[in-house]
Amino acid sequence: MIEAQLAGKRSQIGLLALYRSTIGMKVAMAVTGFILYGFVLMHMWGNLKVYAGREYFNHYSEFLREVGAPFFGHEQALWLIRIVLLLAVVLHFYSAAVITLRNRASRPVGYAVKKDLAASFASRTMIWGGIIVAFFVFYHLLDLTTGTVNPAFKAGDPYDNLIASFSAVPVAVFYVVAVAALGVHLFHGVWSMFQTVGWNGPRIDRVWRGLAFVTAAAFVVVGVSIPVAVLAGVIK
Ligand code: HEM
Repeated sequence: MIEAQLAGKRSQIGLLALYRSTIGMKVAMAVTGFILYGFVLMHMWGNLKVYAGREYFNHYSEFLREVGAPFFGHEQALWLIRIVLLLAVVLHFYSAAVITLRNRASRPVGYAVKKDLAASFASRTMIWGGIIVAFFVFYHLLDLTTGTVNPAFKAGDPYDNLIASFSAVPVAVFYVVAVAALGVHLFHGVWSMFQTVGWNGPRIDRVWRGLAFVTAAAFVVVGVSIPVAVLAGVIK
């Protein structure tokens, strides 16, 4: 009995030690990043329905609340998804912060001559992209989910809420900037994810880069098009 308990404790400690190692944290970032990547692509696919009109879009939003019925009750599956996303965001951010601080601590003085010859713009700006996106998501939830910062917010009418929000030029510009920042972040993140899990090599790297580019570009095109279409009066 005591033996079994000790063995259980040892494996828990082993798992925690593995997570705390830099490679453990990188794997955690790859796994949580993959979950978040899947979410943003699905979310943009869902957002495309705004072009099909108010009824279609609002019906889709209602569907999200009924996913899994009758097994799940109203909003139950949605809440499960929200909890998984929240855990993924926390773990992704925490691991990124620890890895960044460890990297800085291992080189406290910095390079005398700092030339990022090999590092791309995307890889150098990962932490900043992440911070912009975190601020954006916080604002976005207050804007289109709770309506706290959207004076015209009507519960159950996401189509009108979206138009009311994007009709203000500064808000539309903020969305465009955040979507572009997330696009750059995704581009580098998807590629790094495959490096971390060790699925790499000169040939397959080109495939990952291509996949990362195409999906990040599709995300940016859809995400930028919606605020622009509202301002241009195409969606009204
Ligand atoms: C132009 C770009 C975007 C548009 C038009 C948009 C639109 C929307 C709308 C209309 C909702 C409310 C849906 C509903 O209540 O049924 C929503 C919720 C949400 N959006 Fe976005 N979104 C955009 C970008 C993003 C991005 C880039 C992220 C994440 C990085 C994101 C994350 C979320 C989350 C987490 C929710 C809350 C879902 C929930 O728990 O109910 N959105 N979005």
